[in-house]
Amino acid sequence: MKEFTTKVKKAVIPVAGFGTRMFPATKVVKKELFPIIDKDGRAKPIILIIVEEAINSGIEEVGIVVQKNDIPVFRDFFQVLPSYYEKLSPDKQEYCQYLQNLGSKVTFLTQSEQVGYGHAVFCAKDWVGDQPFLLLLGDHIYASEVKQSCTNQILQIYAQTNQNVIGVRIISGTETHHYGCIGGNLVADGLINIDAIYEKPYLNFAREKLHVAGMKEDEFLAVFGIYVLTAKIFDYLEENIKQNAREKGEFQLTSCLDKLQKTEGMTTYLVKGKCFDTGMPDVYWQTMIDYKFH
Ligand code: G1P
Repeated sequence: MKEFTTKVKKAVIPVAGFGTRMFPATKVVKKELFPIIDKDGRAKPIILIIVEEAINSGIEEVGIVVQKNDIPVFRDFFQVLPSYYEKLSPDKQEYCQYLQNLGSKVTFLTQSEQVGYGHAVFCAKDWVGDQPFLLLLGDHIYASEVKQSCTNQILQIYAQTNQNVIGVRIISGTETHHYGCIGGNLVADGLINIDAIYEKPYLNFAREKLHVAGMKEDEFLAVFGIYVLTAKIFDYLEENIKQNAREKGEFQLTSCLDKLQKTEGMTTYLVKGKCFDTGMPDVYWQTMIDYKFH
């Protein structure tokens, strides 16, 4: 892929959930603050890796959706804290300045009640405005298999198609009930013609409705964690919220994505890279081992 300049300026990262899959640690520590050791041997909280993924891909401003009570801990992370700073070696002090600079690009948005991922995205509506925006899951980190980062690949597809884009990856039939899954047809260059998006389908449903021609039996396409969406998504989310249209008690994003793909069109792209879902204990553990060497 060639170099390009992205037209997408803002990224939204929802981190306002309770992270119950990481119980009991998440009773006291936000899962987005759990550390991962990177290839330089730095212990980085997951949120930092995600903010870097966005900024290093050309995004100018990042909106992090948090619970109000969690603002201080996230804010502190991006600030120079004098008594802590004094204890650091010069190279670490320099790194603190880098974090502060990164933090100047971050705005905290709040979700007052924890009523689902779709609702958390909706909380970014006013901050985003009417421009297309990048959406990154708050617990996924990425390792690209090509020179461009995973986010950059998605932004480039958006630049080429001018249409909503969802990154996908291949999962096995045993995982479909954990992820948003996509049905359609594989076309050239990792692009998929999408015809359905469904939240956490059981295997039988996936076999019946989400099989992608050309893929192996019991392999499916799941959300990768990186999306470029138009502001139209907020209309669909608002409709559901106003009508109290909940799924499993929560306002979901996926059903609104399905509406969006039907009305505006959507490109699905098989990302050349790996995503690590750090929101699940076993995958978090494996990420600790694999991420350092990617
Ligand atoms: C959310 C999305 C789902 C996606 C998943 C990845 O679900 O709704 O489509 O596949 O993230 O972790 P959640 O993890 O909030 O249950």
